[in-house]
Amino acid sequence: MRRGPLTPGEQIPVSDSQRQRKQRGAFFTPPELSRHLVAWAVRTPSDKVLEPSCGEASFLIPAGERLQELAGGRPVHGDQLRGIELHEPSAARARELLAGAGLQGSVIAGDFFEFEAPGSYDAVVGNPPYVRYQSFTGEARVRASERALRHGVRLTRLASSWAPFVIHASDFLKTDGRMALVLPAELLTVNYAAEVRRFLLNRFGRIRLILFEELVFPGVLEDVVLLLAEGMGPAPHFEVLQVRDAAALASLDVEGWEQYQPDAEGKWTPALLDDTAVDLYRELTNREEISPLLAWGETSLGAVTGNNRYFSRTGEQVAASGLPERDLVRISPPGSRHLRGLTFTERAWQELVRAGAAGYLFYPRKNPLSKAAANYVAEGEAAGVHLAYKCRVRTPWYRVPLVQVPDLLLTYMDYERPRLVTNQARLRHLNSLYGVFLRREVRQLGQDLLPMAAINSFTMLGAEMVGRAYGGGMLKLEPREADKLPVPSPELVNACATELRALRPQLAKALRQNNLAAAVKLVDRVILTKGMGLTHRDIQVIRGAREFLFARRATRGGGSGGKN
Ligand SMILES: C[S@@+](CC[C@H](N)C(=O)[O-])C[C@H]1O[C@@H](n2cnc3c(N)ncnc32)[C@H](O)[C@@H]1O
Repeated sequence: MRRGPLTPGEQIPVSDSQRQRKQRGAFFTPPELSRHLVAWAVRTPSDKVLEPSCGEASFLIPAGERLQELAGGRPVHGDQLRGIELHEPSAARARELLAGAGLQGSVIAGDFFEFEAPGSYDAVVGNPPYVRYQSFTGEARVRASERALRHGVRLTRLASSWAPFVIHASDFLKTDGRMALVLPAELLTVNYAAEVRRFLLNRFGRIRLILFEELVFPGVLEDVVLLLAEGMGPAPHFEVLQVRDAAALASLDVEGWEQYQPDAEGKWTPALLDDTAVDLYRELTNREEISPLLAWGETSLGAVTGNNRYFSRTGEQVAASGLPERDLVRISPPGSRHLRGLTFTERAWQELVRAGAAGYLFYPRKNPLSKAAANYVAEGEAAGVHLAYKCRVRTPWYRVPLVQVPDLLLTYMDYERPRLVTNQARLRHLNSLYGVFLRREVRQLGQDLLPMAAINSFTMLGAEMVGRAYGGGMLKLEPREADKLPVPSPELVNACATELRALRPQLAKALRQNNLAAAVKLVDRVILTKGMGLTHRDIQVIRGAREFLFARRATRGGGSGGKN
């Protein structure tokens, strides 16, 4: 491990590989965050401060400085600063850094879950490790789960390490102590964290959360929140404040706090909107004129080939390999960019294929293989395609399990909105798209009008609410989230059918010109104003809320390239 001068937050020693760090959940906290949390949690010069999982003392050092400042420059007493850290070299480094900063304190190397909680600290500050359940196993997990169980919190198999950390950490506090932690934003979203949310609301009297519009950990794609918990519980709700970035912590808007009670689903997006918008959203979602997409039909994944380059073929490739038609299946080419309009027609598919898109899937008819198919299979084996995981696990490896032809195609990774498109060309789809299989009673209506009816502001707000922000500012819908997408109900679409049909040419033109705003306005007038009787003000609230969530997602996309 590297020795010599090293300041907090500086590059981690080379010997501590990325992988090892990930396994321990070692991401060090930027100083703006740790200073802010410490300034809030440490209140008097005699406070005792604990940083569990202290890494290289990102919180201990500002805590020591804060104590000194509160004491008018007098030195900190040795037992006022305590760190615990699993990784011995980091613990040693933390000691060196403390000494280098002229601070007394102790850092013990060990597993935090092995320490009994004395309930004697005024402040517990830090950034627990976020080790995902796949790596958080064995004895470490058993110990952590036992600690949580002592509080009646039964964590599921899916819980990451931060969850029991929060629970055990709170045990170290005096009754009026303050806990200030950096936690993954999944505290507010994932199901398994519901237990932790309940625990926090029970244990503490006041709980505040600071959310960020931008990702604040340099080089780390984890979306984090700051937890500030104090007093004895129960607390009636969380209070949430959203700020732009770490620098904004220096001037917090004290008026900006919103009350927030996570719903059963645990989505945190509503916490970002004001109450008027959330109330209106909930009210409209419950109206009969709105139904979840699932009421129209099931959404499911497309076919997984295991190797799209090999299995999907352009017209030219088909001609070159001499594959007969019976060894091919027509598909919507990989990707989703080509799905811009309301309907994917036969003509559009032919144009795409002429322009070089891979509109065919290699799907050889059985026994015997045609000569061209046998050659192509041999080519695949020579290139090792059959060794790819998805190919290896099926027999024969070259038969992609086909999915039925869906009625509608649905994009699920988008910048602006998920797009529903009628599959008029009756193409199969790969897993770059979802397929929607409409119920028999509404099939005709859905194929005809649902893609149009779904281009309304409320459904677009719904997409932001049920989906999740992904790297690059994209909005991702999982199939089960797509099921919940609020769309106009079959009854409403039926009632508006004549007007929707009349809109088709104008709508198609607006979409061709990439003018989504114009398209939405047209549909809003029919669906929201006439169909549902919403006022101009209601529609403004819905559009404002959608714009806000969209802008938030898009801003954070600027800096990151992966999942957040
Ligand atoms: C997210 S880092 C945070 C480090 C530091 N608190 C900071 O904010 O810069 C998490 C740290 O927890 C340590 N860690 C992981 N599991 C631990 C455990 N069971 N007990 C104590 N420390 C642990 C890791 O080695 C890593 O240094």
